[in-house]
Amino acid sequence: MPDHVRIFDTTLRDGEQSPGINLSAKEKVEIAHQLAALGVDVIEAGFPINSQSEFDAVRAVAQSVKGPVICGLARMQLSDIDRAWESIKDAQRARIHVFIATSSIHMEKKLHKTPEQVMAAAIAGVERSRSYTPDVEFSAEDATRSDPDFLVKMFGAAIKAGATTCNVPDTVGYALPNEYADLFRYLIDNVEGSGDVIWSTHTHQDLGLAVANALAGVQAGARQVEGAMNAIGERAGNCSVEEVIMAIQTRGASMGVTTGAETRQIVRTSRLVSALTGYQVPPNKAIVGSNAFAHEAGIHQHGVLMDRTTYEIMDATSVGWDSNRIVLGKHSGRHAFAKTLGDMGYELSGEDLNRAWSRFRELVDRKIEMTEADLLAIVTDEISTAQDTYVLEDLQVRGGTHVHPTAKVRIRSGDETFEESAEGDGMIDATCGAIQRALGINAKLVSFKVGAVTGGTDAVGEISVQVNVDGVIYSGKGVSTDVVEGSARAFLNAVNRATNVNTRRAALEAPSF
Ligand code: KIV
Ligand code: ZN
Repeated sequence: MPDHVRIFDTTLRDGEQSPGINLSAKEKVEIAHQLAALGVDVIEAGFPINSQSEFDAVRAVAQSVKGPVICGLARMQLSDIDRAWESIKDAQRARIHVFIATSSIHMEKKLHKTPEQVMAAAIAGVERSRSYTPDVEFSAEDATRSDPDFLVKMFGAAIKAGATTCNVPDTVGYALPNEYADLFRYLIDNVEGSGDVIWSTHTHQDLGLAVANALAGVQAGARQVEGAMNAIGERAGNCSVEEVIMAIQTRGASMGVTTGAETRQIVRTSRLVSALTGYQVPPNKAIVGSNAFAHEAGIHQHGVLMDRTTYEIMDATSVGWDSNRIVLGKHSGRHAFAKTLGDMGYELSGEDLNRAWSRFRELVDRKIEMTEADLLAIVTDEISTAQDTYVLEDLQVRGGTHVHPTAKVRIRSGDETFEESAEGDGMIDATCGAIQRALGINAKLVSFKVGAVTGGTDAVGEISVQVNVDGVIYSGKGVSTDVVEGSARAFLNAVNRATNVNTRRAALEAPSF
């Protein structure tokens, strides 16, 4: 009987630490529901002490997502731990994840603490967490650059204080697979009580070894793997959850392990994360890149036609790559629309359904056949713009080889409308200029990416932007069959995020009586 490897998904915490990603509570809840459909065991929903909005988002996930354990991260400070518990206490099953750095460089230079002080803080933190929940994870940050004998003492003390999962992070992505495996073997052999806990990998992509390291850890006895969807995360990113799941699905027999993942949900989850974070998936990305199952060389195409397994080690449909079939068209009614979304896992009702339906009608007039991927783009667009203060009502652009580009926008916010026009270097530049003038803001476009959801000249385009507002980067996305309109929507979406953050900040900073 193969051993179960738990999948701990940290897309919403470590993944969200990627520059420019700032997911709203609604977006986190949507992703968490999809992660539950994917069958992950644990969802790390965020770092609740970080901000009021982070706390609210973690609480929203804990209150609405059933199935996986919902986890909140905390430093080894009692106030962090109390706050983490407050945010997750309504979950069906709740885990507190506490961490503290154990390498000399981190203890001396960052924490300014002696190893004894770090040990005392860890014991107090684990005990406090354990007073709230029987499910406590302890992480020794920068474990792979820590003294293994100090780790033996730290993990032993954490287990004695009540930790039930012990995580060994390769925080800076430095370890080689054989070293990481050796470290697990050493810890499992020497830590007191090691047989009573689940050992966990947490690996980063700095040297491109995150998945290899995670699998090496599993082969050495780890039974939990931490990672993020599409490998998003700090710097070069986290271990890719989809790659680990499929590596175990495809090669698990030789490792003697399995996961509980519903692999057919992988592509849908990847698309949702990509759409809501604005981090596009490279075409050659394993498992979820658009070329991952495409064969270019004639000899390969010939082989696959004779027998798929000549050049394919996985079946594309086993990870959900059949979402390009037409599911709705120009004549589809509202009922069919709602039902198809329901089949895809989106139970929209009330105002959310009205908005998604009118977006669908707008787009289906320009693109007559809609695939599941197009519908997902519409739904994610609606999710990310649902709380927008400013809404694009009208856009008119002029431009061409010999015509200077100009744009005119009308934006609504409640009962107010703002109208302005501007010239620019191109139509997108003119449009962003007109939006800035209309709202009286200073926002600079720092990155701009266009992706086509499906093929054809009438393809639904997904535009992802990063915008610098007052020195802070905000991501935004827009969906349209027209690139300029999609860009206007994406730019405005980023401005809206900046506005929401500022409104929240103002609320937090206001004196409380
Ligand atoms: O990379 C890391 O060390 C972390 C810890 C908080 C687990 O993300
Ligand atoms: Zn990490």
